[in-house]
Amino acid sequence: MNERNKILEQFKKKIANLRKHNKLYFVKDKPEISDSEYDNLKNEIIELEKKYPFVKKDGSVDLIVGAPPSNKFKKIKHLIPMLSLSNAFNQGDIEDFLKKINNFLNFGDKKIELFSEPKIDGISATLIYKNGQLKNGLSRGDGITGEDILDNLKTISNIPQKIIGKDIPSLLEVRCEIYIGKEDFKKLKDNFANPRNAAGGSLRQKNSIQTSKIPLKYFAYGFGAIKPMSFKTQSEFLEKINKWGFVTNPLSKKVNGILEIQKQHSTIDAMRSSLDYDIDGLVFKVNDLSLQKRLGNTSNSPRWAIAYKFSAEKAITKIKDIIIQVGRTGAITPVARVEPVTVGGVVVSNATLHNEDEIKRKDIRIGDVIQIQRAGDVIPQVLSVDVSKRKNNSKKFYFPTKCLCGAPTNKELSNNTKKEDAVRRCIKGYDCEYTAKEKLKHLVSKEAFNIDGLGKKVIDQFWDLKFIKNPSDIFNLNYNKIKILDGWGDLSIDNLKKAISKSKKINLDRFIYSIGIRHIGQESAKILAAFFVKVKEFSKLIDVKKRSIILSNLVELDGIGETQINSIDNFFSNKKNAEITLELIKILNVNDYAIQVKDGKFSNKKLMFTGGFHKMSRSEAKSIAENNGAKVLGSISKKLDYLIVGNSKPTKRKIDQAKDLNIRIINENEWNKILNS
Ligand code: IVH
Repeated sequence: MNERNKILEQFKKKIANLRKHNKLYFVKDKPEISDSEYDNLKNEIIELEKKYPFVKKDGSVDLIVGAPPSNKFKKIKHLIPMLSLSNAFNQGDIEDFLKKINNFLNFGDKKIELFSEPKIDGISATLIYKNGQLKNGLSRGDGITGEDILDNLKTISNIPQKIIGKDIPSLLEVRCEIYIGKEDFKKLKDNFANPRNAAGGSLRQKNSIQTSKIPLKYFAYGFGAIKPMSFKTQSEFLEKINKWGFVTNPLSKKVNGILEIQKQHSTIDAMRSSLDYDIDGLVFKVNDLSLQKRLGNTSNSPRWAIAYKFSAEKAITKIKDIIIQVGRTGAITPVARVEPVTVGGVVVSNATLHNEDEIKRKDIRIGDVIQIQRAGDVIPQVLSVDVSKRKNNSKKFYFPTKCLCGAPTNKELSNNTKKEDAVRRCIKGYDCEYTAKEKLKHLVSKEAFNIDGLGKKVIDQFWDLKFIKNPSDIFNLNYNKIKILDGWGDLSIDNLKKAISKSKKINLDRFIYSIGIRHIGQESAKILAAFFVKVKEFSKLIDVKKRSIILSNLVELDGIGETQINSIDNFFSNKKNAEITLELIKILNVNDYAIQVKDGKFSNKKLMFTGGFHKMSRSEAKSIAENNGAKVLGSISKKLDYLIVGNSKPTKRKIDQAKDLNIRIINENEWNKILNS
């Protein structure tokens, strides 16, 4: 082989290799090399192209679209968090949504105008304009902090870089969904699993020239910060920004009441396949922005909007095996390993079987032909079994009564219903290696320690190699051992070190959430953090004697009930949990909870409500009080400043107790006056 051919061979091999790794990353979601190794490979190709231009006739790196996204974007805090939406899957869910809104606003059965928009299945981004000039463009990131992807967003030609018109707010943040048209995607489909992946990959290219090769489009759907705010409704906002040059979705519409909602849902569902973009449902938003403001948010999603998903896509496949998975709470979940099948553009090879009862009820067996469905990002479910295709020698599946670790499992009795839980659990906690591994995954997850580069797969790998066993091991990793593993290079090690070191500084609420006490989610963790303020106070729960006193005080917290208190008690009664918590506190730098003392009518005051109010629901009263600086308690104590008594069925005992303790009592009229003053 002459020199020229040798070089050509070498070049072709590298190009093929690059394509292989692109595919592993984007299509299979299983990268085999690290970002830095990928970059090296690409640089080698670029060098060859520069040195020997003749190789280019056999392909060029420029022609390969899509490269693993960079993690080198500048991180910027969102002006207002980018929340997600809660989902509805049927009419009942929508009825619940409407009921909750009416309850919160105390609106009885009044019909509230909603605005319906298609839910575009793309990637969200936010555009910030100052005095009409596009200044910033961020990805959603974790919702609190996004990445600066302005250069890439600027490649989308119809995103206005300057808005011209009357009454343009000096600060305008437009939220939008970036997507790739179905037709355009056809040219890219060898490189990406679906249009959404392609859009995400393209937006996160470090080199915006790569981004510009992929035809991105967008729809603007909402706003973040606006100053001054002059819009009254969502529909008015969209109309206005459309006049200013933003692309808004033409299939949006005002709707009133459940019938119109259902009608709009089926109308758009019927049009779905003829649209040039993927939609996975409709978003229904309370149209009146002042009502949106009153409704506010729960920790991750607004109360004023919901995503009403279209029915899930279904497929037929066969169960190859039924395996058992153990979750972080010890829950034993059966999972069907199925013959791979494509459902809505995604290859599915696992489906959940929920629990023992579900398997019994549907008599699901290994070897069965089944129908599965995939809705959104959740793990596909088994819908039904085709018994006619069952072989004669097929055997019933008996659910194991032991955990994978060998320990016996149990089903709890529910406090409320006094019924046995459907879920079997291993109660060994960190002493069960399966539960422990999942607890570590929870610990590093986005909402907890949020350690970039330490995903579920890496935890699995490090666990199998015995690099980690307890949470504290994560903060004492031996990087020399990791360095020699396949897929790790200097750059990725360096990034991991930085991410871990950064995560050592953690806020108390996140810390409480991270240690994984059952029934303590993000919201309860915040309530507890506001109560303890300092990690030192929190750690007193480890001491048996102090614990019982503290637990009796927790009763007064609005939002913490018997279930949570029992669970905290159980958690710290376990010696291992106590050790692990102490060890973590020692290594970490847990910040005091910064109680956001909001300036307002009730700054630093402790309030409690009893009875119902005429003008607002209890939830709204609570949220108004909190927004005005109050802490809302759940029981009468000396600490209480005011007891607010609603006209409808207040508890007499509470009023008497408050009187005994000389607590100021405010009746409904006075309460309304204070709010309006
Ligand atoms: S409103 C507070 N409207 O869906 C959240 N979202 O699951 C308000 N999306 O992050 C979101 N189309 O990326 C809204 N018409 C639409 C949407 C839409 C797509 C995406 C968006 C958001 C995600 C929420």
